[in-house]
Amino acid sequence: QQVTVAIVGATGAVGETLLSILAERSFPIGRLHVLASERSAGSQVEFDGRKITVEDLATFDPAGVDIALFSAGGSVSKEYAPKFAAAGAVVIDNSSAFRYDDDIPLVVAEVNPEQVRNRPRGIIANPNCSTMQMLVALAPIHREAGITRLNVATYQSVSGTGRRALEELGKQTARLLSFQDPEPDVYPVQIAFNVIPHGGDFTDNGYTTEEMKLVWETRKILGEDSIGVNATVARVPVFYGHSEAVHIETREKVSVERARELLSQAPGLEIVDERAPGGYPTAVTHASGQDPVYVGRIREDISHPRGLSMWIVADNIRKGAALNAVQLAELVLAER
Ligand code: A2P
Repeated sequence: QQVTVAIVGATGAVGETLLSILAERSFPIGRLHVLASERSAGSQVEFDGRKITVEDLATFDPAGVDIALFSAGGSVSKEYAPKFAAAGAVVIDNSSAFRYDDDIPLVVAEVNPEQVRNRPRGIIANPNCSTMQMLVALAPIHREAGITRLNVATYQSVSGTGRRALEELGKQTARLLSFQDPEPDVYPVQIAFNVIPHGGDFTDNGYTTEEMKLVWETRKILGEDSIGVNATVARVPVFYGHSEAVHIETREKVSVERARELLSQAPGLEIVDERAPGGYPTAVTHASGQDPVYVGRIREDISHPRGLSMWIVADNIRKGAALNAVQLAELVLAER
């Protein structure tokens, strides 16, 4: 049957992709409301070849909405998601506003889909992009061998920061190539031709919030508070696609062959691991614009008896955000 869907933040980088994925997957939409701030109310976005007029979230009446997909930042979610839920909608929230609340499920469609039903507040949280792609690859290994600790360094694209960051990378690149000052604005320092070891805000322990999300969300999604997670988040001058160097330590030894076997059976994942030049996934050559999580460079850690290293890449706007949100909406629909 057809449902009424609302997209909150429809004009943003994730919102735009939510619309295209809903169309691609023929989500059974009866009515569609596209919402943003009053700045863009009245403008139009495209859905399935049609133009749809953007409505102002602040004056929108959520009555009658079945599923609301939120991607307009934490403060918008905090204020409006409970209102949509109170009006009867199931909210799938892409912000970090509710992720760490005990009574809010945090769900990766391939990892803990059963948690979708467990939503006393009518809100389901969509995980952080970096945690999302990492756990699609690590969950099958964790189930078999028990991950006790992991070390991850991320190489995150600018699209994760939003539309203004995409524009900043383009503009800075053009300015630098014509010998002009890069004029940093969204990021504190130049992002074009640079790597910035900073995502989110700094916290008391010296880690950033983007790093701590990997700690908290890995534990919550895998349901294992004892997993040690050490993360370094870096922003790189890539438009779409996050890359991650991940090193895990397991209770039982996992050989490369066994890891490949487990990963080749895992949903939502592709192995690209030729051990030759170009035989590995990259953000640009594999992930950008695609649905799967790609894994390569799988090898046994020469410094640890039960360690594995790998390289994990995915489109942060698709699997890292919009695609998983739509998969969660599909799980909710399947309950009906
Ligand atoms: P708007 O176009 O009206 O600013 P991104 O992450 O790419 O920057 O996108 C953020 C999205 O969230 C946009 O669609 C933006 O709409 C929306 N948004 C930001 N602030 C608000 C707000 N206060 N109310 C509704 N939508 C908002």
